[in-house]
Amino acid sequence: MEKTYRINKDMLKEFTSIKQLGDLSEAFAKAKYVKENPFADQELGRNRTLLMIFFNSSLRTRLSTQKAAMNLGMNVIVLDVNQGAWKLETERGVIMDGDKPEHLLEAIPVMGCYCDIIGVRSFARFESKNDDYEELILNQFIKYSGKPVFSMEAATRHPLQTFADMITIEEYKKVEKPKIVMTWAPHPKALPQAVPNSFAEGINLTDYEFVITHPKGYELDPSFVGKAHVEYDQKKAFEGADFIYAKNWAAYTGDNYGKVLSMDRSWTVDSAKMALTNNAYFMHCLPVRRNMIVTDDVIESPQSIVIPEAANRVVSAQTVIKEILMSL
Ligand code: CP
Repeated sequence: MEKTYRINKDMLKEFTSIKQLGDLSEAFAKAKYVKENPFADQELGRNRTLLMIFFNSSLRTRLSTQKAAMNLGMNVIVLDVNQGAWKLETERGVIMDGDKPEHLLEAIPVMGCYCDIIGVRSFARFESKNDDYEELILNQFIKYSGKPVFSMEAATRHPLQTFADMITIEEYKKVEKPKIVMTWAPHPKALPQAVPNSFAEGINLTDYEFVITHPKGYELDPSFVGKAHVEYDQKKAFEGADFIYAKNWAAYTGDNYGKVLSMDRSWTVDSAKMALTNNAYFMHCLPVRRNMIVTDDVIESPQSIVIPEAANRVVSAQTVIKEILMSL
């Protein structure tokens, strides 16, 4: 029988950061149990409703989180805020004479009336670094919904993705302390820093060797970089790596916040660079732009573990939702 301990009491009301997992080995053990016994807790979610709110598009998060909740016996409601709901004003003090007929400050507590747990996806908007890094939208859900809230990717973090990434690394690692390299790669659009921030936050909880490589100008928030070694020479960074974690992100620093500074395809992950590694596994959270981020041959190679990584999104979501259900 599984022990009924909780990962961390702070998780009871919200899950917005991988740090809230508390003891990592305990969290991995709970995830392993969930993976091996996906339907063992069907009673836990009976007559409970998960409301999933999407301010942005999704494939994996939507499907994996819904599947996780269904495995736990829950009912699920999905709301795409930009498709079919009233347009929402998010700023307080605005004279609402424009095209937004409802304010988030009414909408959030109303949503809270219809469910037991809320998952929120709300990306960085790149309009205000301060608003993004203070998690304006997510924190309003936490404050006003009256229900436990978890992040399905917010402005600064994507903890369910990071948990799935780390579960995958634990499953595939061949040495106790693998060398993990997170590399920037080119992309035509400005993408948030949530995934790289969150991944860095997670790997910094381990004692693994951790290198972040990117062109100059793409430095991440130092509080997320933590003890990682930043290496501007991508090829040097790849030497001896056990895992290559590729991701694009827009600039973070100064006036360049949210800007695309480079689309240099010499940073694309290809087989020549992978040959510098310790036969590393290739990881990416997906969706991925082929031949921008990674070449076809690398993502299709036996060392590519992007599909098992995506499959583990169910495990990470189910482990977290289960903990929240246990607190209700
Ligand atoms: N990795 C991830 O979160 O994928 P989606 O944006 O499709 O949910």
